[in-house]
Amino acid sequence: MVYDKVAARYDRAMAPLEKGFLAGWRAETLALLPENAKILEIGAGTGANFRFYPPAECAVASELSLAMLDLARSKTEAVSLIQADAEVLPFAANSFDAAFATLVFCSIPKPENAFAEIRRIVRPGGRVVLLEHVRPDGALGVLFDFFNVFTTALIADRFNRRTASCAAESGLDVLEVRRKMLGVFNLIVCENR
Ligand SMILES: C[S@@+](CC[C@H](N)C(=O)[O-])C[C@H]1O[C@@H](n2cnc3c(N)ncnc32)[C@H](O)[C@@H]1O
Repeated sequence: MVYDKVAARYDRAMAPLEKGFLAGWRAETLALLPENAKILEIGAGTGANFRFYPPAECAVASELSLAMLDLARSKTEAVSLIQADAEVLPFAANSFDAAFATLVFCSIPKPENAFAEIRRIVRPGGRVVLLEHVRPDGALGVLFDFFNVFTTALIADRFNRRTASCAAESGLDVLEVRRKMLGVFNLIVCENR
């Protein structure tokens, strides 16, 4: 898995983006989660979101890469960590009040499977919040289709995902899409039916 290989360098590589805009967007994303609820993070990586978690009844962070998860472990005692594939989540139906992910759906081979799992484990009426880089509209989108050929082959990162549409097709109600940086990033707010 590519993230097992890049884990040790991930935080350092992301530091300029965190400082520039990402940390602010993370705070905005996690502020949309309910407080004192059961929340699940998907693809938590090295735990960059931990400092923005709201007070929770139960907070669980799942992640596929063991190397990323090891680094995350050093950043929290309050969050329960579990190795899990977003496409096959090891939780009972309706276990959570909310689920969220940041910069994850570009890496998941079959996002429709992950959305089906999210719909299963989040209770009806529960919230799903995503901060994702996506295919922007217009000419920029065509450029991203081109980039996608290389990013998929080199780092298994799809640059032309239409994540909000995929969420809607899965049956989630998409309440709001906040476009950021010319629509290259989307903050997607959904409710489970
Ligand atoms: C770009 S990193 C983002 C990490 C973190 N969410 C953040 O915002 O810094 C993508 C993460 O998604 C994880 N990931 C990729 N495919 C996954 C899957 N099928 N299930 C769970 N996590 C996955 C990777 O291991 C990696 O940690």
